[in-house]
Amino acid sequence: MSTRKERREAERKTAYSDVFHYGKDIVETDIFKKALAQTHHKKTTVGDHSACVAVIALRMCRRLNSRVCHLDERRVVLAALTHDLGIVGRHEKYSNNLETYIRHPSDSAKIAMRLLPEMNKKFYRTISRHMFPLTILPPTSIEGIIISIADKMASVKDISAHAAA
Ligand SMILES: [Fe+2]
Ligand SMILES: [Fe+2]
Repeated sequence: MSTRKERREAERKTAYSDVFHYGKDIVETDIFKKALAQTHHKKTTVGDHSACVAVIALRMCRRLNSRVCHLDERRVVLAALTHDLGIVGRHEKYSNNLETYIRHPSDSAKIAMRLLPEMNKKFYRTISRHMFPLTILPPTSIEGIIISIADKMASVKDISAHAAA
């Protein structure tokens, strides 16, 4: 019988490979390749951070789906992988960090909708409000809450990895 730690590790590995299955069309885009080359939170890249958000979000989604929800796993993964694409090329687009924080959520949402035109307004808001409470307007769906929380968890991980280095 496996320990709790082993089960969690197995779940994490499965989620990681499922992220690349669901997100194949995004990770192969030029903008995601650029995201993998752009430093983020000092020690990681925008692409790696987004993949980390996707793994955390997918695991949260699965926990909720095993109890009360019927969330679309693929949608959650796609929102996570695209939630920060607006940051790509930040030094050419934005004049300072504050402008980056304020503008990248809606810029990311616009890019996501160009890459995934079949998605709806709910998907747009999942991305455009991921920086809540900085965005003032809160997420309007469970998927939006998941992405917002997973983003903060991944950011803490990124920053603490930097601090530990
Ligand atoms: Fe962000
Ligand atoms: Fe993020």
